[in-house]
Amino acid sequence: MDINNNHKVISDNEIDERVTRLLSKMTQEEKIGQLCQLSGAEGWVPDHLRHAIQSGMAGSVINEVDVNTVNELQRIALEESRLGIPLLIGRDVIHGYKTIFPIPLGQAASWSADTVEKGAMVAAREAKLNGVNWTFAPMIDISRDPRWGRIAESLGEDPFLCAQLGTAMVKGFQGDDFTQDHAIAACAKHFCGYGAAESGRDYCTTNIPENELRNVYMVPFKAASDAGVATFMSSFSDIDGIPASGNQWLMTDILRDEWQFDGFVVSDWESISQLMIHGLCEHPWDAAKEAYNAGIDMEMVSTTYRDHLSGLMANGEVDGDKLDTMVSRILAIKFKMGLFDNPNNTAPGFPEHVDPAHLSIAKQAAIESCVLLQNNHSVLPLNARQMQKLTVVGPLADDGYEQLGTWIFDGEERHSTTILRGIEELVASQTDSQDCTVAYHRAMQTSRSDQIDQLEQIQQSVAESDAVVLVLGEESILSGEAHCRAELNLPGCQQQLIETLSSQNKPIVLVILAGRPLTLEAVIPHVDAILYAWHPGTMGGPAIAELLFGVANPSGKLPVSFPRKVGQIPIYYSQKESGKPVNDHNFMMMQDIPVRAAQTSLGMAASHLDTHFTPQFPFGFGLSYASYHYSNLRLSQHQFTVEETLNLSVDITNTSDVDGVEIVQLYIRDHVGSITRPAKELKGFKSIALKGGEQQTVNFALRSDDLAFYGRDRTFKAETGRFTVWIGPNSADGLSADFELIINE
Ligand code: GLC
Repeated sequence: MDINNNHKVISDNEIDERVTRLLSKMTQEEKIGQLCQLSGAEGWVPDHLRHAIQSGMAGSVINEVDVNTVNELQRIALEESRLGIPLLIGRDVIHGYKTIFPIPLGQAASWSADTVEKGAMVAAREAKLNGVNWTFAPMIDISRDPRWGRIAESLGEDPFLCAQLGTAMVKGFQGDDFTQDHAIAACAKHFCGYGAAESGRDYCTTNIPENELRNVYMVPFKAASDAGVATFMSSFSDIDGIPASGNQWLMTDILRDEWQFDGFVVSDWESISQLMIHGLCEHPWDAAKEAYNAGIDMEMVSTTYRDHLSGLMANGEVDGDKLDTMVSRILAIKFKMGLFDNPNNTAPGFPEHVDPAHLSIAKQAAIESCVLLQNNHSVLPLNARQMQKLTVVGPLADDGYEQLGTWIFDGEERHSTTILRGIEELVASQTDSQDCTVAYHRAMQTSRSDQIDQLEQIQQSVAESDAVVLVLGEESILSGEAHCRAELNLPGCQQQLIETLSSQNKPIVLVILAGRPLTLEAVIPHVDAILYAWHPGTMGGPAIAELLFGVANPSGKLPVSFPRKVGQIPIYYSQKESGKPVNDHNFMMMQDIPVRAAQTSLGMAASHLDTHFTPQFPFGFGLSYASYHYSNLRLSQHQFTVEETLNLSVDITNTSDVDGVEIVQLYIRDHVGSITRPAKELKGFKSIALKGGEQQTVNFALRSDDLAFYGRDRTFKAETGRFTVWIGPNSADGLSADFELIINE
């Protein structure tokens, strides 16, 4: 199924020469045409689109994936336009094309760059069969507010983890240098700070101080730029009063002047014309001027560039010389991708069935993405050979569409294996079918239903069963773009269903499908085990079945903190301590406050009266069927300088008889800085496979650059001072030691 798109690496000099040569032939209109991305009509070529391409007024088409139509669009561009410049065919291939992988937030729970890269490569290979050569991914917005629907598309709350996995996605999509047959252009989005939308409401204002922008929100984008991502996308959001799509400080001062990014920037969908709605400008020509001057190279779907750039240049309102630079960036990417060297640019079309090898990779990704949050009395793994009957309950247990998650434009339910079917097939494979029967009750029409159907039959089935698997959570539409929630509990009457069934005192395993962290405080006492599967994708069924029955051992760790209550948001592990840190000694819950307590008698600390100050589940948390003991943390020295490397080692023993994979995490705290520093920061992680009873030593190395940050003077550097380092299983636990970094000014 490979595309014959192998082309030799084109040197930068050759690209420059070819761009310059082509540019010299282009009219101003044709140059402006390259800055325009037009929307496809999904399966045919309307006259306006044909004429735009013929006249050179389209550099890209978005949302056309009918292969015959894509091939026709490219043919028109190559054969019927004056200069024959091929099109970029853009599509949101966010976590798979036909083979759908876990949502990115789920993939992030694997903490595996390799897994994420493979998923992106599969997605690129599949998308390209239908002629897509540009994806609007990875989405690397730091997300610390689970109310925000787009947390589902993100790689979580931490800059270090997001940077590692975001660059792996870039590599998966683009390959090393676009020469591999699967390579398509990637897009780092949404630059910048989109995830900080007020109250978690999509598109809302963000107010992010510059140090927070540089030390948190920009980190994954700088990594993507350094990794050679082909394109950036500007965010919808307003940042400190200037929307990203009109923000010259972001798009030029930072991205070009500081980072030397050499790809091109595309706006988000009509985000240039939305500058008028934001109230940054009055007229569409003003919007074009703001975006052009800011450094947005290509306009997605709105037409302010097409309609107004010529006039703005003619009357000197924008610098016409800049046009060549913008067009050159786009042409350079097209040359680098080999689009000019693949004469027919025709795609073969996606086959009837997905590649089994891709499904296998997606299953492994789903296995690594699931996080075991609770396993009381080791109720998991289940043993089919010791059960007569298992009852599966819930509207998401047998729904091949909902398990795919948000942003699956091209995914198809028919390729899915549902959780119920995964369980049935696994149980049948482990026993003679008459030994263990699997009963299923949907119980609710949708995840939002307020009515439990056939409750008596369900209770009867549960009464006859050895265990119950509940599959609940959120339908896919409840997360993703513009789908934000003010409450984070299980929707509909799910809580009632859980409590009703838990009263029957049977072991209950709860599998949660969701696009975000949910508040589980009310759920936890009523179930024995919780496996968080996010939206696990096409192969969610077999993956979850293998985890539930111990064929696979959970290894996932949370890429985002789980709040106890919505009122704790934002809550994330790397929050600053404040001047009055809370701890178990100065914390008091409301119900423990003495009547008529004096105003200052409770102590003063950064906490709430009505919830504990910690998250329900911390960043980096995840259980396993194995158990791991950390010991013997040792440092090569307790003082080191910029010329030296601090080497750290820790011993980890699998104290169980079950083989497993542990994701070992390294955090630091910089105790004193020219600006206040987070209580903890992830600076390293490693996955190690440990057989039952096995011990391994895990080594890390820290250099002063690993401790650098943007401080009071806004320069990026490490500062002398005291540090604490932790190495452990998550952000809340671990072995610690202190060290000093000595920088001789
Ligand atoms: C959407 C999203 C962006 C996506 C684009 C094209 O509104 O914000 O992430 O890539 O439009 O679909």
